[in-house]
Amino acid sequence: MTQKTNLRIALVTGASSGFGRAICTRLIADGYVVIAAARRIDRLQQLQDELGSNLYPLELDVRDLDSVARIKEIIPEHLSDIDLLINNAGLALGIDPAQKASLNDWLTMIETNVIGLTCMTHAILPGMVKKQSGHIINIGSIAGKYPYPGGNVYGATKAYVAQFSLNLRADLAGTCVRVSDVQPGLCGGTEFSAVRFHGDSEKANALYANVEPILPADIAETVAWVAALPKHVNINTIELMPTAQSFSALQITRNIK
Ligand SMILES: NC(=O)c1ccc[n+]([C@@H]2O[C@H](COP(=O)([O-])OP(=O)(O)OC[C@H]3O[C@@H](n4cnc5c(N)ncnc54)[C@H](OP(=O)(O)O)[C@@H]3O)[C@@H](O)[C@H]2O)c1
Repeated sequence: MTQKTNLRIALVTGASSGFGRAICTRLIADGYVVIAAARRIDRLQQLQDELGSNLYPLELDVRDLDSVARIKEIIPEHLSDIDLLINNAGLALGIDPAQKASLNDWLTMIETNVIGLTCMTHAILPGMVKKQSGHIINIGSIAGKYPYPGGNVYGATKAYVAQFSLNLRADLAGTCVRVSDVQPGLCGGTEFSAVRFHGDSEKANALYANVEPILPADIAETVAWVAALPKHVNINTIELMPTAQSFSALQITRNIK
């Protein structure tokens, strides 16, 4: 690899599957050196075999806050000056109503989607501010804006991502550091629903039956576009859905006589 002066370095969390994998593939094609982080290191090594030495596999659980705080020491020094952070690692667990939901599932979502993302940002942001350059792209969700039955804590974690992203923009005024929140709707071709339904692939597959969802490549295209805009342009929030997904009426509970 060449010296940092020529490198654009991206760090992508949740790189072993779905959006993260597609984003790594796209960023490498766009000339980035990519640190690909996730828990399943074997998957990341396979990705390196596929994409070459410009991908650096990093075994990381974003809930391991000691490792996250030391991330700049853990990654090789010549890759530690991050230009682009993609906070993508995240998950939904369960679709039960709040009164029946698993507390463990709730806590795992909060630890991953909120605390992990926050601590990754805390670890990387000062370096960007110091050099007056950098971009953080958070992967939120339409679930952070539009409530749905069973969305309880998952949607709340993504609402946090949306507001955290905007508040970062307020703090970063004058630093030239950009922050964006990409909010996808129903997306197929990932492990998201299999994880949500705790491995029940029948339930997971049913969600995509006879629907053309957006795909990880569409998210990667969006992220690449947001990142490639001129430095004076900041996309604050971008929401995308499959054309087949839309809105329905608010629920009304009627008294039955
Ligand atoms: N698919 C959708 O419909 C959809 C819609 C809107 C938003 N999103 C959001 O998009 C992001 C990516 O989801 P996806 O659809 O690509 O799902 P996915 O295929 O399940 O990928 C999730 C990724 O997150 C990683 N991850 C989970 N927990 C982690 C942890 N504690 N530490 C590090 N990495 C962790 C997983 O890797 P390891 O298991 O190897 O650690 C995996 O690489 C998530 O934030 C999700 O909420 C998805």
